[in-house]
Amino acid sequence: MESIADPELTDATLLPYEQVDVPVLIIGAGAAGARAAIEVVQEGTDPEDVIVLGKRGHGDAHTTWARGGINGALGTHDPEDDWTVHAADTLDEGHFVNDPSKVETVTKQMPERLHELDDWGMNYSRTDEGEIDQRYFGAQSFRRTAFAGDHTGESLLDTLVERAQSLSIPYRENVMITSLLTEGETATGAVGVDLDTGKPVVFNSNAVVLAAGGYAAIYNRHTSRDDENNGDGPALAYQAGARLMDMEFVQFHPTGMAVDETDEEWASWSGRLVTEAVRGEGGRLHNSEGERFMKRYSPDQMELDARDVVARAIAQEVAEGRGTENGGVYLDISHRDAEFIQKRLPRMYERFQSLGVDMAEEPVEVAPTSHYGMGGVAVDETGETDIDGLFAIGETMAGVHGANRLGGNSLAETVAFGTVAGRTIAARGLGSPVLDEEVVETQVAPALATLEELTNREGQYAPRAVFEELQSVMWDHAGILRDGETLESGLEKLETIRRKAQDLTVGGRTSQSFEVAIDIQFMLVAATAVLRGALEREESRGAHYRTDYEEIDPEWQQNIHFEQADLGGMATSVEPVESPSEAVQAAIDVGYELDYHQLE
Ligand code: FUM
Repeated sequence: MESIADPELTDATLLPYEQVDVPVLIIGAGAAGARAAIEVVQEGTDPEDVIVLGKRGHGDAHTTWARGGINGALGTHDPEDDWTVHAADTLDEGHFVNDPSKVETVTKQMPERLHELDDWGMNYSRTDEGEIDQRYFGAQSFRRTAFAGDHTGESLLDTLVERAQSLSIPYRENVMITSLLTEGETATGAVGVDLDTGKPVVFNSNAVVLAAGGYAAIYNRHTSRDDENNGDGPALAYQAGARLMDMEFVQFHPTGMAVDETDEEWASWSGRLVTEAVRGEGGRLHNSEGERFMKRYSPDQMELDARDVVARAIAQEVAEGRGTENGGVYLDISHRDAEFIQKRLPRMYERFQSLGVDMAEEPVEVAPTSHYGMGGVAVDETGETDIDGLFAIGETMAGVHGANRLGGNSLAETVAFGTVAGRTIAARGLGSPVLDEEVVETQVAPALATLEELTNREGQYAPRAVFEELQSVMWDHAGILRDGETLESGLEKLETIRRKAQDLTVGGRTSQSFEVAIDIQFMLVAATAVLRGALEREESRGAHYRTDYEEIDPEWQQNIHFEQADLGGMATSVEPVESPSEAVQAAIDVGYELDYHQLE
């Protein structure tokens, strides 16, 4: 990899920039990005020809916040499990708008991926016999979720980073990509800003991998940190001309922390994840009347029914006046002994203990929170988008999860599609990238001009206030329960936010306001697509619940695609879903289902 500031290319009228010539540019330093980089290099690419970019410090990607586990049909406890049942569960809970071949790509590979991680040193929790342990997770027919306590994401990323380091893969931290470069229908790199120095950086590349997360944080109550999952990945691809898909499907995790927001110590924890593993290990939900209410909603699967079912049940309990003081319900695992909880759920136990709550003695308060965007960039079987050489993987891509994701399938998708995309890129044997003069004139120059114009802009509105206004609009207008009227008025409010976003007061390029101003642009793309898709989809399916169309409509077994319209604005179209393979259909026909009562 060559990193140079090329004065020849730095036109006097352009903001000075650093040019980095690197054949394979990976945007996002979480599990998907790391796994893709590893595969590219393992398949013979010189590590100097690859770079992994992180928006934040090294090893601090959102993956570290993933807790409860990673799925793969190892059959440690349940030998009847295999990849076809894993695929059947994934499609069933995705309400059959997932792409079956992408589901197979993940489920077939996972046993091998899990063992490979073991070989690379991942510190899985193990059975007494030393096998990789597997726990129950919601709506899965068998115990299929491998885990490392309740810090699975952290352990996974540590393992991948160590592997990447052993292969001498270069990482660069604190760079925020603001736009992609294309030549015709081909990806040629990206433009961004070094957040430490404020200097723009132009990456000149032959393959670009977007592994930059999803869009769950466009909602004000969410499980992400505030500056991640703002829609960067999908928006960058969309702005470059790729299509998005399934954006209306947003997963609300049933158990985010419900706290007293006036209490300083607790406030920052509002919405943060209380892992599904608490329920997977036997945790029970009670309303304020002490009733174990899931009996009424799902007598067979109880607390381990699909996330959309449990989230709506909690929302209903609260709406009907059986909620707690902080607008949630109680999650109780105190019937398990302290040693068990500390071993299986150490991070949860420590977190609540630091706030003065002992999970082994008392319940905690939880309520639904935005957790994951099932939609994202439309890609083919290798993770490649409509733009040649532009890949989207992990939470940035769409297709695996359909209308509702199984817990534990997101980490699975990161390593499965990271591997597939990495292998595809390596097989292309990419040469040295050439930065075309025309691309500099027509794309780099306007991108730099946009960055310059945004720098130290004096407008009427504070970026953080506009950012939060957008998040509130999404929660109020495209939340767990939606209807046509609320969605329409959400779109109208978004137009006001769009106008405000053109009139912001922004600091220099190393300021937080600069970053937030760019985030708002990404969020606007994702938010528009969510509202448009949710309005168009006149049915209820999985996580998308319309109170004015409460039933699933077989006619809607289709995916909505979103792309830039020729005359500006966003255009949508629909495409039918493929059928599962015979092997997977056979597993679907058996009708496997989790039997919760084995846990009791
Ligand atoms: O609840 C959890 O631990 C989340 C896992 C996931 O979303 O896959």
